[in-house]
Amino acid sequence: MFSILRPFLFNLDPETAHDLAIKSLKFNFFPSKMFEVEDEQMLNIELLGKNFPNPIGLAAGFDKSAEAYNPLLKLGFGFVEVGTVTPLKQLGNPKPRIFRLEDDGALINRLGFNNDGIEIIKNRIKSNEKKGILGINIGPNKDTEDQKTDFCLGLKKFFDIADYITINISSPNTEGLRDFHDQEKLKDLLLTLNTIKKDNKTNIPLLLKVSPDIQDNHIFEIADVATRSNISAIILTNTTDGNRDNLVSKIKKEEGGLSGEPLQQISTNMIKKFYKQLNGKIPIIGVGGVNSGKSAYEKIIAGASLLQLYTGFVYRGPSTAQDIKKELIQILKNEGIKNIKDAVGKAI
Ligand SMILES: Cc1cc2nc3c(=O)[nH]c(=O)nc-3n(C[C@H](O)[C@H](O)[C@H](O)COP(=O)(O)O)c2cc1C
Repeated sequence: MFSILRPFLFNLDPETAHDLAIKSLKFNFFPSKMFEVEDEQMLNIELLGKNFPNPIGLAAGFDKSAEAYNPLLKLGFGFVEVGTVTPLKQLGNPKPRIFRLEDDGALINRLGFNNDGIEIIKNRIKSNEKKGILGINIGPNKDTEDQKTDFCLGLKKFFDIADYITINISSPNTEGLRDFHDQEKLKDLLLTLNTIKKDNKTNIPLLLKVSPDIQDNHIFEIADVATRSNISAIILTNTTDGNRDNLVSKIKKEEGGLSGEPLQQISTNMIKKFYKQLNGKIPIIGVGGVNSGKSAYEKIIAGASLLQLYTGFVYRGPSTAQDIKKELIQILKNEGIKNIKDAVGKAI
């Protein structure tokens, strides 16, 4: 079905195609369980105090304003992360701001956190009971006076309705955001967020989403701060603002974050490095170029307990999660592994 629709969708500008996808998903026309697969229990995994039906999550940025998380869960994703949500509604950067690099299996985006803002999104989620595991990814407004305050607002407003909250310090399209990779700045941010958790008597898991563009010495520092700051998982990685040289598409020099196949190996390498550094103290969620059972398995044996994807979904369509689950189960069977958790970090 998607193979019939794909040429039509790919004729549209990428953002128009995306908006159309969200609008159609809102009709919620797929029957539930349609995208479950045989032997899916092999993919069940306990993490963050939750039972994930499978490790294939939808990454932040697709459902920025929490309009379609239930229909997306129905497509067979093990969890969905909405956002990035900023305190105030914002429009983001001028269009065009998403670019399809078909020959590279990639996207470049410089959306700049367009979303409906905390109030609208909170009400939307409250009136639309989640039918699976829902993460909320938070970040600061472009014109904010203090980015830290914006993160605090996000946590205060969402801790009681999310299964976990992701602190997004890694989007390349918001000025100054990635400065939070600095050890002292990160320590200070996480200390404040932990105080908010304590004041509100909540144990909501906080996840940290990291950039692939950091130096190796930062890996040690971030792992150290995260371990001391009660971070429940590290998401590796966001998009990269470098790594353009080997691309073949003419528009490879568009400004923004690059995602998809060119990011695959970069993020897997980062998972390996963090996995060694963390030594099992904090689990990893692997993201970047996951588009098949093979690419999913590579990240799991590199140390990821869960996965997320975005660009692979754009290229493979509604059956992406289902297809990857089937392929992954087949790989586990071939390897004689009974449950996905037994494969985590196997290559390290
Ligand atoms: C169009 C687009 C918008 C995105 N928006 C966000 C966002 O708002 N917040 C965020 O943390 N990551 C965002 N991301 C990054 C993805 O969540 C993911 O980390 C990245 O794309 C790598 O995964 P992929 O190769 O499977 O796409 C966005 C990615 C794309 C392609």
